[in-house]
Amino acid sequence: MTDMDQPLDLDHQYAIDRDCTTLSRHVLQQLQSFSAEAQDLSALMNRIALAAKLIARRLTRAGLVEDALGFTGRTNVQGESVKKMDVFANQVFISVFEQSGLVCRLASEEMDQPYYIPENCPIGRYTLLYDPIDGSSNVDINLNVGAIFAIRRQEGEDLDHTAQDLLQDGHRQIAAGYVLYGPSTMLVYSIGKGVHAFTLDPSLGEFILSTENIRIPEHGPVYSVNEGNFWQWEESIRNYIRYVHRHDGYTARYGGALVGDIHRILFQGGVFLYPGTVKKPEGKLRLLYESAPLAFLVEQAGGRASTGMQEIMDVIPDKLHARTPLIIGSKEDVALVESFIQEHDRAQREQEILTPKG
Ligand code: AHG
Ligand code: MN
Ligand code: MN
Repeated sequence: MTDMDQPLDLDHQYAIDRDCTTLSRHVLQQLQSFSAEAQDLSALMNRIALAAKLIARRLTRAGLVEDALGFTGRTNVQGESVKKMDVFANQVFISVFEQSGLVCRLASEEMDQPYYIPENCPIGRYTLLYDPIDGSSNVDINLNVGAIFAIRRQEGEDLDHTAQDLLQDGHRQIAAGYVLYGPSTMLVYSIGKGVHAFTLDPSLGEFILSTENIRIPEHGPVYSVNEGNFWQWEESIRNYIRYVHRHDGYTARYGGALVGDIHRILFQGGVFLYPGTVKKPEGKLRLLYESAPLAFLVEQAGGRASTGMQEIMDVIPDKLHARTPLIIGSKEDVALVESFIQEHDRAQREQEILTPKG
């Protein structure tokens, strides 16, 4: 009998999780509590999941409906062209948190300043930071995109709406994760107790647990970087790339959407890097809603995230949309990239000492 002859076992479709652990149940199980904070976190994750479902629904029909593909003609605070899906997804997150009583502020890539929901503020003790569509250049060609999110506790009243308390390091995050819109929609999250992946079953409209306690391999074959920037980088990054070119066991993968590239690395190991360039040493990726949430997640899975000189989780942003270079993934691979950067830095400083001034 071949595999083709096997009857379909319809009763056991949920081979992975026959109990169908939903996301909100999983959060409560993880916290082992029905405290107010546990209920809040469960409700927060539920709302994020609802946003993900609404966005996934639009993405799957994007080629068929009006106003889903293409640009709006506007640029965002980062000077990047805004796509219609960026605006839609940004608004979906706002809508699902309105009248939730959970979140007083939302801060996203697509909004210059945080968005306040005044009716939530007396009781909404959390802030949601998010990248509503990550990799939006992939939208028009039906390739994978994502969303990235982090939850922080609001500190202080923020009566002047300056959101100064958000300008703190990544250890202040209490939860983080991403949604991957691929062949299936997945939600991967951590509340500081490991990393867990859920897959959307469209027939149920529920995210069902598919992989619990993901551990990133200590080393993997993939290096994921936009090599088109080769001549804009510092020599140290070029030297790292030359190293992987000259050694067996490395392979390049780059999808144009950070979430997809990180998802591969989380499961199979390797390293993603978006270094600074000589002209823009801070690189492209934003700390508060891209690098720091992914750093939280990858560290929870046993990996690392670094700027090359500092742990991403320790970086304190000077503004809401601050950028950082990002090197993230398997411990050994991140350390290898760092060794090139730090060696170059040491050599440069020695050179400065040896070169007489004037
Ligand atoms: P976003 O669409 O949110 O602006 O993010 C795009 C990011 C990231 O997802 C991706 O890894 C990177 O930009 C791609 O940039 P390049 O095209 O410069 O490689
Ligand atoms: Mn992004
Ligand atoms: Mn984006």
